[in-house]
Amino acid sequence: MAKTLKIGSVGLGRLGYEHAKNIANYVTGAELTAICDTDAARVAQVAEELNVPYTYTDVAEMVKNPELDAIVVVSPSMFHAEHIKLALDAGKHCFCDKPLDTTVEKCKLAEKAVEAHPDKVFMLGFMRRFDDSYAEAKRRIDAGDIGKVVLVRSYTQDPRTTIEGTLKFAPHSGGQYLDMCVHDLDLIRWFTGAEVKRVWAIGGVFEFDLYRELNDADNCCATVQLDNGAMGFMFTNRTHGAGCNVETEIIGTHGTLRIANVGAKNLLQIVDGSGAREEYYPDFLSRWHQAYINEIQEFVSCINEGRKPGVTVYDGTKVSQAAYRCKESFETGEMLVNE
Ligand SMILES: NC(=O)c1ccc[n+]([C@@H]2O[C@H](COP(=O)([O-])OP(=O)(O)OC[C@H]3O[C@@H](n4cnc5c(N)ncnc54)[C@H](O)[C@@H]3O)[C@@H](O)[C@H]2O)c1
Repeated sequence: MAKTLKIGSVGLGRLGYEHAKNIANYVTGAELTAICDTDAARVAQVAEELNVPYTYTDVAEMVKNPELDAIVVVSPSMFHAEHIKLALDAGKHCFCDKPLDTTVEKCKLAEKAVEAHPDKVFMLGFMRRFDDSYAEAKRRIDAGDIGKVVLVRSYTQDPRTTIEGTLKFAPHSGGQYLDMCVHDLDLIRWFTGAEVKRVWAIGGVFEFDLYRELNDADNCCATVQLDNGAMGFMFTNRTHGAGCNVETEIIGTHGTLRIANVGAKNLLQIVDGSGAREEYYPDFLSRWHQAYINEIQEFVSCINEGRKPGVTVYDGTKVSQAAYRCKESFETGEMLVNE
């Protein structure tokens, strides 16, 4: 039987807390042995709640713990490459949430760290690939069910009810293209099996002035052309009225696949004075709850079975590079070649 992996997790914010709870409660073959966050009070609170034996406020200290087999990185995006390198150089396997980092240069540093430790498992957290519906769509595309993929249309809309946390996160997020569109870009590359060749991105500030100060947009979209001729279109915003809405349509030469075009969280229909409705997932954490568990489970299984994950460090760099081109296109108004 595979041994129980001891995991140390860094970052205990919105998603870090979710991963910590999942490792402690739902991921099999692993236990949450250590946690780290620069906020000491938060560390103490989560350690008590989840019964975690080792606590840290400095990730460089945590990776020295000889009991740990793996590190899960959920710190702010601009620390990812640094934390990946610390983990791998200390002889630990490493899972890092998206994006790989906030600049292409730092993504390349992460690539070097991964290449220097070929015996270690590194996995990047593009969790949509581990959602049952997206995984099934990919299986059908690979089986040839819809012929050649012609267009991937992907919408990512956060609910306006979570805007307070979103605005706090915005200044260190890397911007909409790097923070949100990376999920859509990952799907577009994954479903088409091709690389982004040209981008044209537009957007605007329709409500929250903070985004103007950050030279960013609260609503934006981009059209991309892939190097095999396929097309992608994505739209993201932070102000969806009815919960977390992520919908994707894949049009092929012989058929179409659609995922969650209504974002319904279950089969319940509510009929009242306003009519009949289905409720949305209230936020991204509930929408992707099972996918977040599945991706860490895959990371643990890869370590135990000596396999390499399907989502690589290079996917992270390619997606970040395309996201940067979108940001540049948004800033200049030009259609740009992605090279
Ligand atoms: N895959 C997804 O759907 C998804 C969703 C949300 C966030 N994320 C990613 O997860 C990461 C964290 O996002 P979040 O929303 O949880 O952010 P957050 O701002 O809510 O939390 C970040 C946490 O990291 C801590 N921290 C800051 N600097 C640190 C350091 N140097 N060392 C250790 N801890 C540090 C902060 O105190 C805070 O608790 C980001 O990279 C983000 O892009 C991914």
